Amino acid sequence: MAKIIAIINEKGGVGKTATATTLAYLLSKKGHRTALIDFDGQGHSSIISGVKNTNKLEVTINTLVRRLVEDEPLPPPESYIFKTKCEVDLIPSNTQLFTLERNLCNVDFREHILTRYVDTIKDSYEYIIIDCMPQMGTPMINVMMCADSLIIPTQAELLSAQGLAELLKHYQLIQKNSNHRLRIEGILITMDSANTILSAQVNDMIQQGFADKVPIFNTRIPRSIKVAEAVLYHQTICEFMPENPAAIAYEKFVDELLAGEKNKTAGRSA
Ligand SMILES: Nc1ncnc2c1ncn2[C@@H]1O[C@H](COP(=O)(O)OP(=O)(O)OP(=O)(O)O)[C@@H](O)[C@H]1O
Ligand SMILES: [Mg+2]
Repeated sequence: MAKIIAIINEKGGVGKTATATTLAYLLSKKGHRTALIDFDGQGHSSIISGVKNTNKLEVTINTLVRRLVEDEPLPPPESYIFKTKCEVDLIPSNTQLFTLERNLCNVDFREHILTRYVDTIKDSYEYIIIDCMPQMGTPMINVMMCADSLIIPTQAELLSAQGLAELLKHYQLIQKNSNHRLRIEGILITMDSANTILSAQVNDMIQQGFADKVPIFNTRIPRSIKVAEAVLYHQTICEFMPENPAAIAYEKFVDELLAGEKNKTAGRSA
């Protein structure tokens, strides 16, 4: 059964999509069967993955969730899953997902709809990565109800760091009351400009404010214009320019993530 990892932060533009697409790519490259759920109406993960015109898609994550709400059968996965060049199975999204919050407002057990969908594909994968939208609300509660763990990308700047406290409150509530298996893999510092005073100060602030509450990945992703340039070619930085420092850092981050998982597995069997 798949491990479900959500890439989440209600702050926009912190590197969620860059992290989700690159993580899915690297897991797949290492031979893990991986799916990527684009759970943002902006459809950025779908676009990076090579979907040409997201608003012409017949079936998106929004359609699938809506069918479950209306008790209609789901189409077979092979009819809507988009196979990326690097063998990641993408469940795409488009602007229809912006209506989800409103469409769920009168639905019974509305926090569990995404779990019901993920349960239908879970046996086919080792990892399911969810790229989240940049706001809290019923869709994000759905994500926290269905995920096993969270990765929280955070830019090394003051406002990003301040938003973390709010996210942790939601996490603690859901973890304590509903989804007891939910864990935080760690905060991932992105768009880091090493050797700047700002970066050093914000890093210190994150360490002092959060290190006793949540793990922080040792690896930081440096800022590189090539990450944004890769998007023009519908690629992650690791495909576009594997020798770029941001690509190398993403490889190290995934190794760190997987080593942490191995330690946890070893801990369980000891
Ligand atoms: N390490 C990096 N260095 C430079 N630019 C980056 C880096 N990571 C991401 N970017 C760029 O910063 C912008 C925001 O990144 P991204 O889309 O991954 O953030 P996001 O958190 O998913 O945003 P949103 O909240 O809007 O979904 C994009 O243009 C992306 O290409
Ligand atoms: Mg995004």
